[in-house]
Amino acid sequence: MRQWVVARRPAGRVSEADFRLEEAPRPEPGPGEVLLRTQYLGVAPVMLRYLSNETSFERPLAIGDVMHGRGVGIVVASRHPDYAEGDAVQCKLGWREYGLIDGADPYFMPFRMGHPDLRLSYGISSLALSGFTALIGLRDIARLGAADRLLVSGAAGGVGSQVAFMARALGCETVVGIAGGPAKCALLTDRLGYDAAIDYKQDDLPARLDALFPEGIDVFFDNVGGELLDEVLGRIRRRARVAICGRISEYLKTPEEYHRPRNLYRIGLMDAKLEGFFVYDWEPQFRELEDTIAGWIRNGALKPLEDIDEGIERMPAALISLYEGSNAGVRMVRIDPAADGGT
Ligand SMILES: NC(=O)c1ccc[n+]([C@@H]2O[C@H](COP(=O)([O-])OP(=O)(O)OC[C@H]3O[C@@H](n4cnc5c(N)ncnc54)[C@H](OP(=O)(O)O)[C@@H]3O)[C@@H](O)[C@H]2O)c1
Repeated sequence: MRQWVVARRPAGRVSEADFRLEEAPRPEPGPGEVLLRTQYLGVAPVMLRYLSNETSFERPLAIGDVMHGRGVGIVVASRHPDYAEGDAVQCKLGWREYGLIDGADPYFMPFRMGHPDLRLSYGISSLALSGFTALIGLRDIARLGAADRLLVSGAAGGVGSQVAFMARALGCETVVGIAGGPAKCALLTDRLGYDAAIDYKQDDLPARLDALFPEGIDVFFDNVGGELLDEVLGRIRRRARVAICGRISEYLKTPEEYHRPRNLYRIGLMDAKLEGFFVYDWEPQFRELEDTIAGWIRNGALKPLEDIDEGIERMPAALISLYEGSNAGVRMVRIDPAADGGT
């Protein structure tokens, strides 16, 4: 089987040369272990920080280790009583064609898919961390209400491409998205359920915010951070809620380069709330989140947008695309050509 290992530490930006594709023997499960054939692997902006061992929640990576990554696998051999051949399971598989997990080790965060009649790729997108993150941020952190005027940054990305659909399903009527470039902005309004779009690369962002939110912003779902967050804080209304989902604009910066917000004082001034959250902390709620979102997929309220690359060779390129903004929707790679019938 093939697997990607870490070849070197990234120099600022992540590049193909940071990884090496190699052949390895297919592992055999020992007692308590489960072998899965990888169907899809996801990529996420945070992965750059795995390479430099900057996160507290991933195991350190040495040069030569298999790159970390979460995916969907089908159980091909199990020596753990909770897993049977044919089960579809999301877990930390690593960037490899077959993943071996210890069924009792919480590190792998295995989650058996509860709706395997739907597409397996949803085990990377809407019925997985990406979709769970969108719903937690909106419903449990921001406590979105029907009368709230919602703004979303990174709106055409993996998480953001699901937020407007979910906001509508929760009863919200006004949803505006921010994304980079006219094509993505058209996608927001034509395909992803947003009322209006702001192109942060070409538009006058402050002027557009003022025009679209003359009375201010009730809820901001933020994937970007930095200056953009600061600009929005300047326009929050009384009792606004700001859900800090991510800060992709700062992932390629050093802490010294981070933007120093001027408008934080408005949290106190407007009796507002600003709260970060981490999807892994919500693991006990994953089944409920999955069922809720699956219901929206089944009734057509949520139309997942997936950006699927083909073949394990594409893993580094798929990751790099996130920092270049060339993805729309949830980026993933199909590892087993037969997954979901190849479509
Ligand atoms: N809190 C949690 O538990 C949790 C869980 C999952 C993800 N996250 C975070 O949520 C955010 C979104 O994750 P995702 O998986 O959905 O990724 P994503 O949005 O698909 O990330 C890629 C997109 O980010 C935008 N982007 C890249 N660099 C940017 C910059 N400098 N300024 C503004 N936008 C930039 C690009 O879109 P444009 O073309 O529009 O610029 C790009 O297409 C990330 O920050 C991620 O770390 C948090």
